[in-house]
Amino acid sequence: MNKTLKNVLLTTVAGTAVTVSSMTFAATEIKAAFNQSDKHPQYLALEEFGKQLEAETDGRYKVTIYPNALLGDQRASLELVQAGAVQMAVVANPLVENYDNTFTAIGMPFAYTGIEHQEKVFTSGALDKLFASTKKFGFEVLTAYTAGSRNVYTKGHNVKSVEDMKGQKIRVMQSNTMVEMLGCMGGTGVPMSQGEVYTAVQQGVLDGGENNEITYADMKHYEVAPYFSKTSHLMVPDLVVISDDFINSMSKEDQATIRRLAKESTVDEFAKWNAQIGKARALAEENGATFIDVDVRQFQESCKPLQQKLIKTDAQKELTKAISELS
Ligand code: GCU
Repeated sequence: MNKTLKNVLLTTVAGTAVTVSSMTFAATEIKAAFNQSDKHPQYLALEEFGKQLEAETDGRYKVTIYPNALLGDQRASLELVQAGAVQMAVVANPLVENYDNTFTAIGMPFAYTGIEHQEKVFTSGALDKLFASTKKFGFEVLTAYTAGSRNVYTKGHNVKSVEDMKGQKIRVMQSNTMVEMLGCMGGTGVPMSQGEVYTAVQQGVLDGGENNEITYADMKHYEVAPYFSKTSHLMVPDLVVISDDFINSMSKEDQATIRRLAKESTVDEFAKWNAQIGKARALAEENGATFIDVDVRQFQESCKPLQQKLIKTDAQKELTKAISELS
């Protein structure tokens, strides 16, 4: 029996039919949870990754992406990946940081000097050890995607300085680091999932949020919070995770292929990100958003004590050093 045929026969019977020689077999479906739209650069990069995986495994694996949080918010989808009910997901770093605080080092305010620095770090191999270390939690981090830089946006308040943040209730991602970060920036951080932000601002539960331009435009947050202040306080990685049980069920060869293709898709994702960012800002502006330049250094200074407080372990310190050496 040839190798391809043998591998196909070994895969589970689910998903799409694949024809090898004159026989028809089932491809194994990899469900990927994604909390944003199918126009988002990460969706497009993941889609391309799926096509390549299908081609390089002779159709044994097929990736289906479920966008718009159809499989739940990021916290829920990470749990589904751990349980093996969903095979892959894109989740923001703070969600993984809740399992291991070494991840704090790669998602600290002002950890990267800009998008080129971040790309260098993500493609340098410096994070490989960290990414493999989550297997004990039931998932592996295959690679990191950029989500640009995050900025504060508000309902009716022009934020230009740390003083202007006083009393502002700003939604943050669900981790203590994010709550503390917003505190050091002068406001009050309210952790919640991204899908709830629009309504919470509309109803006055929040004064605003903090995110990148693409998500801001994609989720139409400009409709409820049109003042976008370029604080650029955070470049938080998004992590592409895979169920440990699932990857272990693949042949060694296929495991190597999926790991390599995921890493390669990071370069593609950065390119797609860079191509979309300007359009997102223009779209928000056309719809009434005002972009405000701020003194980034003031926010940077105010977050320095947080860095000293949170980067404590040797592993965190080593990573922080490795990241800054790549700048
Ligand atoms: C960004 C990031 C997402 C994250 C979101 C959030 O858009 O790419 O992964 O879910 O921010 O604020 O929750």
